[in-house]
Amino acid sequence: MKRSFLHRGIALLWSALMSAGSVAAQQSNRPSPRADTFGRDGHLYIGADYYPEHWPRERWETDIRLMREAGFNVVRLAEFSWGFIEPSEGVYRFDWLDQALALLDRNGIKAILGTPTASMPAWVARKYPEVLAVQSNGQRYTWGSRKDYSLSSGTYRLLSQQITRAMAEHFAATPNVIGWQTDNEFAGPQDFSETSRIDFQDWLRRNYGTLETLNRSWGTHFWGHLIGDWAEVTIPDCVGEGMWGVSGNPSACLDWRRFNSWINARFQADQVAILRAANPDWVITHNLMGLNPTIDYYELARDLDLVSWDNYPALDRSGQPYAASMAADLMRGLKRKNFWIMEQTAGAMGWATFTDTPLPGELRNICYQQLAHGADAQIWFRWRTATAGREQYWHGLLGHDGRPLRRYREAAQVTREYRSLEPYLKGTTVKADVAIVYDYESIWSLASQPGYAGNDYTSAVSRYYNALFRAGISVDLISPEADLTQYQLVLAPDLVVLPDARARRLIAFVERGGVLMTDIRTGVKDENNLAHERTLPGLLSDVLGITIEEYGALEGRSYPVVSKELFGDTLTATHYVDWVTPTKADAVAAYGRWPLESFAAVTRNQAGRGIAWYVGTVFEEDAFYDRLIDRLLNDARVERWVHLPEGVEASVRQGAGRKLAFLINHNQAEKSVTIPSGKRELLTGEVLGDRVRLGPFGVAVIEW
Ligand code: GLA
Repeated sequence: MKRSFLHRGIALLWSALMSAGSVAAQQSNRPSPRADTFGRDGHLYIGADYYPEHWPRERWETDIRLMREAGFNVVRLAEFSWGFIEPSEGVYRFDWLDQALALLDRNGIKAILGTPTASMPAWVARKYPEVLAVQSNGQRYTWGSRKDYSLSSGTYRLLSQQITRAMAEHFAATPNVIGWQTDNEFAGPQDFSETSRIDFQDWLRRNYGTLETLNRSWGTHFWGHLIGDWAEVTIPDCVGEGMWGVSGNPSACLDWRRFNSWINARFQADQVAILRAANPDWVITHNLMGLNPTIDYYELARDLDLVSWDNYPALDRSGQPYAASMAADLMRGLKRKNFWIMEQTAGAMGWATFTDTPLPGELRNICYQQLAHGADAQIWFRWRTATAGREQYWHGLLGHDGRPLRRYREAAQVTREYRSLEPYLKGTTVKADVAIVYDYESIWSLASQPGYAGNDYTSAVSRYYNALFRAGISVDLISPEADLTQYQLVLAPDLVVLPDARARRLIAFVERGGVLMTDIRTGVKDENNLAHERTLPGLLSDVLGITIEEYGALEGRSYPVVSKELFGDTLTATHYVDWVTPTKADAVAAYGRWPLESFAAVTRNQAGRGIAWYVGTVFEEDAFYDRLIDRLLNDARVERWVHLPEGVEASVRQGAGRKLAFLINHNQAEKSVTIPSGKRELLTGEVLGDRVRLGPFGVAVIEW
């Protein structure tokens, strides 16, 4: 009893001190306006993730010579090297890293260092066992993996600050260190310890102020779960599947996820403040994971100069590579600027079993897809395949044998080509007329309460994103708080959490002349994950010109949908239906079977100077989404500039008076695309006729 009181007191004190520290840290953490994604010398950063500590010193010269010969000018180093740098507490060894950096510098190669906190040395866990997180089953992690830390542990935060400070101070004047990656691939939630629970309680107290507000915001009258003391708050049960799913309060679950996202940002802020103080010229970034749903990346990116991400598209080639494009558009949307690739597929991937090896031209194809969407740095993971440890089958550009073979040669080819494109690329980015609202709170709300079975937010967004991809239209994925004025068309699918202020922004967007599309489950919940007390679609009813008195999950059944205007044929409503009654809107599509014949499946409404569309079900056929996107683009007066064969992707980078069109063939067979004749392809220098031919995995970069 006494012990737990003491424990709680210490934890609270820690938490208060650390939070105060974080506020101060956050004030000095503002990203530097100088941070350009393009190298200051006009060169793109191209290179590999390199682990000199894995190889004998005699090998380094060969590695670095090969990198130079491939045209590389950057490596990422040291993000898992804490055990080498601080072999025991307070004892630092930098000689090996100094030597590697000096050798890289002599070869014209710069470095991004990682703060090595994602993998703790054995002595840390032995000396301070409380720094290991507790899993959801109540068991503490045993040391021997990575990302096993408790971000609520004051001890771990102190140790992280110490190693960050020691490295920052040591390398502050090292000429070829250009910046830092914080930790490695932040994710969560992962810690169910008592410390984490106390940290959560403290976060709630700071956010809600009084227990009365907490109780109201969480709706704790349900099941009589009133909270009479902050210490009564537990970590809610939020992970589960099926009709009953999880038993925790959904409002508490949303806050638990918000809290877990925030502790990652807080941990990062500690490191960023130290790095900025040591050398304000450094570029600070983090390697995000694209569409990973566990962290609010808008929040995490706020302290960073620029966003980087780790791109490992599946090599099963089972369909179009939509996800890597969508992730890139989100990564660009986080700071509304270009981004870096910090890790990218260099070979067959896997820890226990592995994928196919990239086919000839495929590594190049993966690079161009990202370049086309705004990647201004290209770093392959990893330089050479590890001969030891968990990732022996996650292949690098070089194999276990260390010889520069096919994949190395393809990376060198990409590098040569990129260098020739640099003068054209500088100052360009993707400028989209179309945006998709991408909302982590809706992701998290649906994670513990999807509503209808299979309602996964990212898949819901993908239905529309993929159709835009097929239409060759550039899209920004943006925060629900982002300014919408630059867009002609905004899609806001599955936005289950819709606080009133956000709904009003969508309404204002339409009234000012924008075209909005939204769909099922939008606006069901408020910011606390409590259901709004309004008939659906709530505040959006007027702008959409509809009302929804009933809805239901189809549980494997379907309804036919008819629409002469939209698709002629009969299509299929699956998963879920809203029984939509148009009050002012036109019913563009309707159900073809009792008892839904009088309800609309798709509606369109003129409101103010704009137009608002509603889609009330999930269509089985991609063709529906293609037709819908055509109509939306038409309403929004966004022109289609190209018609693409299946499996060919298009994207445009523009700026500095230039416009570059990228065409990327994801097929293993030749495809051709019709274009206006007389345009120059920059990789070949050829002036094209009215068709451009793309070989298997081929690409073209055309001055448009
Ligand atoms: C992630 C990590 C890397 C490596 C690769 C391959 O992207 O950031 O350290 O583990 O996966 O597994």
